[in-house]
Amino acid sequence: MHSISTATAADRAELLAYLQNAFKTNDPNHPPFETLYPDLFAATDEAMSNHRIIREDGRIVACVGYYPMKLRVGECRMTVYGIGQVSCVPELRGGGRMTALMNDVCARMDASGAPLAWLSGRRDRYSRFGFESAGTNFNSWLDARSIGEAEPGVWRVMQVQASSISLFDNLRRNAAVYEDTPLRIWFERLMRGGRPHRIFIARHETGNPDVGAYCLAQAEGGNTLCEWSGSNDGIHAILAHMLKSQNGVSVTYAPESTDPAARVFWNSATGSGIHTAMLRICDLDALLKAYAPVLEKRGTNPADVSKGLDSLALDRLTLTRLVFGPLAPSQVVPLPAGLRWLDQIFPLPFLLPNLSHV
Ligand SMILES: CC(C)(COP(=O)(O)OP(=O)(O)OC[C@H]1O[C@@H](n2cnc3c(N)ncnc32)[C@H](O)[C@@H]1OP(=O)(O)O)[C@@H](O)C(=O)NCCC(=O)NCCS
Repeated sequence: MHSISTATAADRAELLAYLQNAFKTNDPNHPPFETLYPDLFAATDEAMSNHRIIREDGRIVACVGYYPMKLRVGECRMTVYGIGQVSCVPELRGGGRMTALMNDVCARMDASGAPLAWLSGRRDRYSRFGFESAGTNFNSWLDARSIGEAEPGVWRVMQVQASSISLFDNLRRNAAVYEDTPLRIWFERLMRGGRPHRIFIARHETGNPDVGAYCLAQAEGGNTLCEWSGSNDGIHAILAHMLKSQNGVSVTYAPESTDPAARVFWNSATGSGIHTAMLRICDLDALLKAYAPVLEKRGTNPADVSKGLDSLALDRLTLTRLVFGPLAPSQVVPLPAGLRWLDQIFPLPFLLPNLSHV
C-alpha cells in the first residue's frame, strides 16, 4: 500500500527537481517544468495542491497532477480535470506507484462531481483508468499558398502586448471554447515555454469594434494557433499576416456547429485530419446536465438521454466513444430500434483549448 499525500508550496523545489529526473528518461533535454508550465507550478499552496505525490524514505518518488478547469464549450459549462506530470523515479518503476496514484486521482475526480477528465498520453497505458481516445475535432495545417490573399485594405492587423488586454478581452472571453481562468493565471500561461505568446488583433476599416478579431499564437518560431475569436474575415486576415513571416500555422478546432471559425481553418488549409484526445467520463449525469443546451437544440433532454444510455449498460470506454465520437453511436454499438435516435444526439462537441493543456 503506497502512502499518498497532497503537495504543498514547501514541496515545490523538490517536486520540480524530481519531475526533471523522472522525465529525462523520455527526453534528456526536457525543458524545466516551471518553464513549460509557469501557471501550474506557481509557488502557492493552491497551485501545488493539484499534485498527489508518494514519498518514500523522505523523498518524492511518484506524482500525478490533476488540475481542475472551468470550461465553456459553446453554451455548455463544465469543470474538467486535466491530468499531467504522471511519473515515477526510474529505479522504482513497475512497482504500482503510478497505478496507485491514478486510481487515487480518479476516485477524487469522481467524488468531486466533475463530469469529465482529459489527458494527453498513451491509450494503452490510460485505458485501464477509464480514459478513451475520442472526439470530433479537426487539426489543419495552413500556409501562405493555401490561405490566399486577405481582402486588400479592409482589415488592419496589429501585433499587441498582453498589457493592451482592454483592446481584445471582450473578444477573447467570447471565444467558442473558453477556459475561465483568473487573468493572473492567463498572463502566466502566456509565458509557457519561456517566451511570450504573440497576440494579434484585426480591426475593420469601418472602425466598428464588433467586427474585430483576436488570435493568440505561440512565440516566434512556434506554429500553433492557441486562441482565436471574432469575425471570420478578421481571423483570416490575421492568419494571412502571420504567414508572411512564418512557414505554417497548425490549429486544432471544434466543428463549425460549435466554432464558426472552423470554416476559415478548413477552407484555408493545405490539409486537415480528425483530432481526438484521451477523455474519461467521470459522472455521466453531470455531463448530460452540462450539455443540456446542446441536447435541447437536438430535440431531447438530459433525463431521457440518461435513461436511454442506462438501458445500453455500456462500460466506461465504450460510453466515452459513443458520447464523444468521432463515429456515430450506431457505429460504436448495435443500437436497438428504440434507441436509434441517439444517432441524432451524439457525438457531443468537446475541445480543451491549447493553453489549458497540462
Ligand atoms: C509511466 C510511468 C509513470 C509508470 O510508472 P510505474 O510506477 O512504473 O507504473 P506501474 O508500476 O503502476 O505500472 C507499470 C506498468 O505495468 C503495467 N500494468 C500494471 N498493472 C497492470 C494491469 N492491471 N493491467 C495492465 N497493465 C498493468 C502498466 O501498464 C505499466 O506500464 P506502462 O509504464 O507502460 O504504463 C513511469 O514509467 C514514468 O515515470 N515514465 C516517465 C514519465 C512518463 O512517460 N510519464 C507518462 C507521461 S504521459
